[in-house]
Amino acid sequence: MKKPWAGRFKQKTSGLVESFTESVSFDSRLWKHDIAGSIAHAKMLSKQKIIPKKDASAIVKGLEKIAKEIATGRFRFKKELEDVHMNIESALTNKIGAAGKKLHTARSRNDQVALDLRLYLREETGGITSLILEIQKSLLKIAEKNADILMPGYTHMQRAQPVLLSHHLLAYIEMLQRDRSRFEDCMKRMDVLPLGSCALAGTTLPIDRASVAKELGFSSVSKNSIDSVSDRDFAIEFLSCSSVCIMHLSRLAEELVLWSSEEFGFIEISDTFTTGSSIMPQKKNPDVAELIRGKTGRVFGSLIALLTIMKGLPLSYNRDMQEDKQPVFDTVDTIKSCLEILNKMLPEIKFNALRMRTTAGEGFSTATDLAEYLVKKGMPFREAHEITGRIVLYCINSNKDLISLELKELRAFSLNISRDIYTALEPAESVKKRTSYGGTSPSEVKRQIKQYRQMFRK
Ligand code: ARG
Repeated sequence: MKKPWAGRFKQKTSGLVESFTESVSFDSRLWKHDIAGSIAHAKMLSKQKIIPKKDASAIVKGLEKIAKEIATGRFRFKKELEDVHMNIESALTNKIGAAGKKLHTARSRNDQVALDLRLYLREETGGITSLILEIQKSLLKIAEKNADILMPGYTHMQRAQPVLLSHHLLAYIEMLQRDRSRFEDCMKRMDVLPLGSCALAGTTLPIDRASVAKELGFSSVSKNSIDSVSDRDFAIEFLSCSSVCIMHLSRLAEELVLWSSEEFGFIEISDTFTTGSSIMPQKKNPDVAELIRGKTGRVFGSLIALLTIMKGLPLSYNRDMQEDKQPVFDTVDTIKSCLEILNKMLPEIKFNALRMRTTAGEGFSTATDLAEYLVKKGMPFREAHEITGRIVLYCINSNKDLISLELKELRAFSLNISRDIYTALEPAESVKKRTSYGGTSPSEVKRQIKQYRQMFRK
């Protein structure tokens, strides 16, 4: 197989080198974007009279045929032709003859691969943000359906204060909202055309980069040809956005794992989204959630991999950069599959409202309410904190709950306490009173739910 760069060489490439340097086994995935870029490029070359019109139309038709062959599995990618770019170009020349040899005019694989990866990631990033939105909608639906369920809110993994389950779920909607905006922001910098930078220094031929940008739907053209072929920031940013996003998914997954344990007993995940044990017949395991949590490792790994690949590279293009693709592809696959399955699993979760509500009232979770009750009676907060702490200690020593203390026991600590304290110590009441902006009160949570419903409808 003759290489497109064979002219300067006298000897054949070693088979070992072919296997070591090839990328077509993984970058063939970029074929659609490679062809789209080539069609736009050929049209521009003809418009600028760099190649004859009839050659350009032969190129376009040939590329369209190749696209059909690839899409229907009739195209054979060859390792000897290194990468997706040379495979497609060589197939084109075989198909249409001499005109095919004009396609690579005023272009290099360096700006070509930069273009392909941008086109690919722009498309995938759009898909990922839509998947995130779907999860947000699922969470919102669950929050609305279970708006009144109380649960213990935690800090340090210790029961802290009662909260609404819906409020807790809205916290994830917030995280995902930031994730979406991060991906959208990253898309802005992805949305720049590198093609026309050629190998690194531009070209002597009269190309029109703006028209290619327009044809491919890019908002702007890259400003520096050396930077254009050396830059992988957009891919690093994508991996970084993905890392933050999957870190959030992992936290949610971790809570699902904990909550479905017998110790918590907050949720049950349906049989369809759990798996069994090969030895212990009683087990029903939250493997999907565990794997989402586990797959976080490979996404973080990909980010570190690409940062490391890039950190020592002198300008401009270096072959090291071919190593950018697998981490990017793997991350796209991983984050999409996690988002998809999580979205399907969420509606399969049943909440044990009674258990959540009961535990919400345990563990002195309304101690802060008692302190704030005293503050409302005119006591400085520090003093109220101290007294409440002493009451809690008294409870621990006498094996009692705050709410089961007699009024006279309570008044032994402060005469500011009267009968209305018992309402304040109810978890439902505690939640109801937390009406501060962003707080857990039903009125506040309802307002947030309404806001999201409107936002997601747009
Ligand atoms: N397969 C290469 C990559 O992914 C394409 C660019 C090759 N450029 C070169 N000068 N060898 O980076």
